[in-house]
Amino acid sequence: MTFEEMARARYSVKGFKSTPVEEEKLNKILEIAGVAPTARNKQSFRIYVLKSEEALQKANSLTRCVYGAPVCLMFTYNIEETYPYIEDQGLSSGDEDCSIAATHVMFAAMEQGLGTCWVNAFTPSKAKALFDLPENEYVVLLMPVGYADAEPKPTHTTKKPLEEIVRFL
Ligand SMILES: Cc1cc2nc3c(=O)[nH]c(=O)nc-3n(C[C@H](O)[C@H](O)[C@H](O)COP(=O)(O)O)c2cc1C
Repeated sequence: MTFEEMARARYSVKGFKSTPVEEEKLNKILEIAGVAPTARNKQSFRIYVLKSEEALQKANSLTRCVYGAPVCLMFTYNIEETYPYIEDQGLSSGDEDCSIAATHVMFAAMEQGLGTCWVNAFTPSKAKALFDLPENEYVVLLMPVGYADAEPKPTHTTKKPLEEIVRFL
């Protein structure tokens, strides 16, 4: 598939088979996350691979949106490796770093025949406490990864027309 074909075919998977994700595939996905661009190349993001029964149970206690996936990635950033240049909009470059790495994961997983879903329906401070993360780390998102079940079908049906989201100045 070309990138365009992948971007058009991708959807948020909200039901996974219990089939495990092969280690080789998971490692490939993580490698591709690792080459994502980051602010001043500080590589502030961290990825926790939640796949033990205990870790998945904790993830499920944070959100209903793991959707039965056998693996759930938790993206965090180390605030000491971030830049506050956009703090006036309430963001850190760590949020950006995590978002780009997670986007790499979405497409790397797809290339391996796997589905993902970006999840922010949880309380980051609860995740931090539950996984006993270092004080300087902040949780940005969870991303279940696995083989998509046939149901539920993709939920996105319409996207805004470009005229609504693009301005040429
Ligand atoms: C920043 C962000 C947060 C999201 N949070 C959740 C979530 O917590 N739970 C969930 O089921 N889907 C979540 N999604 C997936 C969206 O529901 C989904 O991307 C959107 O409905 C469009 O569907 P599509 O990804 O299939 O195109 C999130 C997506 C993004 C980009």
